[in-house]
Amino acid sequence: MGSSSEKVRSDFFDASWQRTAHCGAFGPEDVGKAVRANGWVRRRRDLGGLIFLELWDHTGSVQILFDPAAGKVHERASDLRSEFCIAVRGKLRRRPEGTENPSLKTGMVEIVAEDFLLLAPSEPIPFEVGEGTDKVDENLRLTHRYLDLRRDRMQYNMRVRHKLNSFTRSYLEDRGFIEIETPVLTKATPEGARDYLVPSRVNPEAFFALPQSPQLFKQILMVSGFDRYFQIARCFRDEDLRADRQPEFTQVDIEMSYVTEEDVQRLTEGYMQGLFKTILNVDIQTPFRRMTYWDAMDLYGSDKPDLRVPLLLCDLAPVFSNASFKPFRDILGRGGVVRGLKLPGCALLSRKELADQEEKAKKLGASGLAFFQSRQGTLKGPLVKFLTPSELERLKEVAALQEGDLLFILADASRVKASSILGTLRLELGKAKGLINEKSWEFLWVTHFPLFEWDEEEGRWESVHHPFTSPVLEQLELMETEPGRVLARAYDCVLNGNEIGGGSIRIHDPSVQTKAFACLGISPEEARKRFGFFLNALSYGTPPHGGIALGVDRLAMLLCGGHSLRDVIAFPKTQKAQCLLSRAPDIVEPERLEELHIRTVPREEEHS
Ligand code: AMO
Repeated sequence: MGSSSEKVRSDFFDASWQRTAHCGAFGPEDVGKAVRANGWVRRRRDLGGLIFLELWDHTGSVQILFDPAAGKVHERASDLRSEFCIAVRGKLRRRPEGTENPSLKTGMVEIVAEDFLLLAPSEPIPFEVGEGTDKVDENLRLTHRYLDLRRDRMQYNMRVRHKLNSFTRSYLEDRGFIEIETPVLTKATPEGARDYLVPSRVNPEAFFALPQSPQLFKQILMVSGFDRYFQIARCFRDEDLRADRQPEFTQVDIEMSYVTEEDVQRLTEGYMQGLFKTILNVDIQTPFRRMTYWDAMDLYGSDKPDLRVPLLLCDLAPVFSNASFKPFRDILGRGGVVRGLKLPGCALLSRKELADQEEKAKKLGASGLAFFQSRQGTLKGPLVKFLTPSELERLKEVAALQEGDLLFILADASRVKASSILGTLRLELGKAKGLINEKSWEFLWVTHFPLFEWDEEEGRWESVHHPFTSPVLEQLELMETEPGRVLARAYDCVLNGNEIGGGSIRIHDPSVQTKAFACLGISPEEARKRFGFFLNALSYGTPPHGGIALGVDRLAMLLCGGHSLRDVIAFPKTQKAQCLLSRAPDIVEPERLEELHIRTVPREEEHS
């Protein structure tokens, strides 16, 4: 420490220095009392010999005044710096007229210090801890996360997260659920990501996997008769990170026996209603809207549509399947699609804006993006000359174009690709044009997902959710003949365009489960090896069951009005899956690898 802090007295903290109230709790009712406050020096102002400190703890701050009349105490106070931790004794008084701050509970009063104790000095701070810190480089904040967490915003976020967890426990317990912890050192649970592996010292060459979710264990708990289970579960997924994904995250994991989709959905709706009332005092309407996966894709171009954006996609096959414009007719003829996105009142978008949209669409994989502007009673745009007047009329009619509207058109062999690209433009344009009502909470269930999707790279079917999801019962037979057409008894809970939960009714018949594995190219031997314990469990009288997992980090982020999961995780990882505070992951000494029977391959060797 510099010489300044050495001058200030350091002493023992005992009960005689303990706060009489939190910093944010002092108010006019205590005026005249002898008080004590403990906290951090947030700001210091020296005014005409007087020293004013803002003393902070998580409840707020209180003004401390050091008068030169206090002699030595005043002199010592001039050495106090930002984030020094102190205890103060003094008298609470009303602030002189004209110096009050009515916006703060403590704004009418101040503590006139009689003495103070330096509990701990602080190194010069790397950034201001007061508000406005959002502009500070995030890496710097994450490196000094202990200071970043002292900010009011982060304190608020952590407390919202705590309330979410405590609401979760009481809501579910009230409905007969019990909390059961499942292992963290376990076997792989396929949820579509890579596993984090942990070597076992006592079982050479064997590895645990950290759970991508407690899926298998929660289903086994249904076999064991815990017919209403929940857990606030930590999950681990080694996948490419984005603002809404962390390698380590938390789910409210739920499983129930003898239920249908409706039961799980109603339970979740009640949970959201209670949660939003408890934390934001907002009334959420239930039941939530329900929409099939294909409707979501066709109308919104997303499997997690943001219903706050009032723009819809439309199908233009009825216009172009027999139209004179050959390229679109051909794409439709080969089983492709021609889809539109209408922007009401945007016919006058500049050439540059139009070109930018096309550029964006191309980056997303489109071969081009056509447009029509409805202006001065006619349609304008590069394709007008290729269409007959009656085809143009038909286009106006099918897309319900009004004077002043703009219509983007995209044709592609793939229904999902064409819709997804327009869906991305829909969202970006909706936001850019200020069409979103930021205050609304649009919940939605997306249902009837395909059970499998074709993985081009691997050349095989993949589960859209996970391999334990039940197919729609009427389609069981199709699993063997046309897996791509089978729909799943799966449902995602979507809020304002974020997937905040996902679940399904499960396969509870081991023979159907074996068939599902077969569709995924998992042979009976491999299924035994990877999931034998689970298949065995299923064969002992498994009740029909289903459940859901809700993303705690995403929910907390939305409740806090944050834009990144990092805002609601005390010690998060960066996009490169690193903890900047502790510098994990870390290189380990060769001896430790030796005892784990592990040898690393140096990167150069790996590349050569
Ligand atoms: P799923 O994989 O859909 O389902 O996960 C459930 C919810 O968890 C959240 N989530 C994440 N949050 C932060 N970072 C991540 N990397 C991340 N991945 C997922 C999302 C998601 O909706 N076992 C099934 C649930 C079930 O079928 O019951 C499962 O894990 O909000």
